[in-house]
Amino acid sequence: MSLESQRSVVSARAQEAAQFLPVVRRLPLVLVEGHGARVRDAEGREYVDLTGGWGVTCIGHSHPALVEAICAQAGRLMQTTNLFYTQAQLDLLAQFTPLLPPGLTRSFFVSSGAEAMDGALKVAHRATGRTKFVSTFDSFHGRTIGALCVLGQAKHRDPYRALLPEPVFVPFGDLDAARAAIDERTAAFVVEPIQGEGGVNVAPPGYLAGLRELCHEHGTLLILDEIQTGIGRTGRLFACEHDGVVPDVMTLGKGLGGGFPVAAFVTSEEVAATVSLGDHGGTYAGNPLACAAVSAVLRVVTEEKLPERATELGARVIERLRAFAADRPGVADDVRGRGLLIGMSLTDTERAATLSLRAAEAGVILNVTAGRVMRLFPALNVPEDDLWPALETVLALV
Ligand SMILES: Cc1ncc(COP(=O)(O)O)c(C=O)c1O
Repeated sequence: MSLESQRSVVSARAQEAAQFLPVVRRLPLVLVEGHGARVRDAEGREYVDLTGGWGVTCIGHSHPALVEAICAQAGRLMQTTNLFYTQAQLDLLAQFTPLLPPGLTRSFFVSSGAEAMDGALKVAHRATGRTKFVSTFDSFHGRTIGALCVLGQAKHRDPYRALLPEPVFVPFGDLDAARAAIDERTAAFVVEPIQGEGGVNVAPPGYLAGLRELCHEHGTLLILDEIQTGIGRTGRLFACEHDGVVPDVMTLGKGLGGGFPVAAFVTSEEVAATVSLGDHGGTYAGNPLACAAVSAVLRVVTEEKLPERATELGARVIERLRAFAADRPGVADDVRGRGLLIGMSLTDTERAATLSLRAAEAGVILNVTAGRVMRLFPALNVPEDDLWPALETVLALV
């Protein structure tokens, strides 16, 4: 790291130490710009971003179509309240609904994934009148109190345990355990098609279909959290399409806005028929700027066939990682994923703990999750000229 970079990090640290609530860890980088798959620091050094802004910048940082749509809408109408119709939301709904899995026809746009999960849980309670939720160990659904209720990781739940109802968690991928947990009191089973933060754990074949059946049997809703897997990341617009499973409620976020803070929960006519006016809302719900951003992202993702690209490119990345793991026995014990959501689990947890920092020093933004899983979730349109050299840089550091 150059002396200038070190200086700006030292100064950022000092400023934050005095003025920022110290609840998040940082890598020692001050980022000022991002274009495509690259971000740039205060001194002009470029980094290839293999996290896609944490699974968000699915069409790349500051895609011109997204920037243009946001700027045009900002100059027209930035905010109203839910009291009014807006053309931006009407246009988005017309574009969005036909893309949804069949039967999901009702959408509500909010500002973050956790908020979308809160909305999904509320809707499930309204639809069933029940209060019990079943979720999976190692799941991640967001950090609001509502989303924390169904989040299956002790490190996030424990500090707030006193505020949360006693959870019912079952192992991910285990249908028998789900069968034992779902009963006539269960409002919803909440699950990610691929656990992202939990270590890129892919649902085994038949799992989602089995859950769908179990939920039907007990009058329980199936809530699929597609906040990380949705909008093309796994090779289909929504990961549930791989399994031909349609949930009762689906949450979306991250890639939905391509960098604009927006999320959504969507549901069926049947569930929508159980809610009443005033059941939910929000100052920024359906914000016109957010709607314009989502419209632009959906246009780029579909027109540029980015899900198809994720399938093709992701398969080659997995192939490369498997070859690497085979060449270096003992370094990685698994490579898994779908589309461009890929994990390689590393055996040396100490080296894994420092990998993101070492990668940043080498010019690559990289995430390690669940203690030892190197997670790749770059922009779906990441140029191959950026991707492959960055991947080789990282593999040399593993
Ligand atoms: C599957 C999943 N659900 C929910 C969330 C929470 O989204 P947000 O951070 O926008 O609240 C995340 C964020 O990582 C996620 O990966």
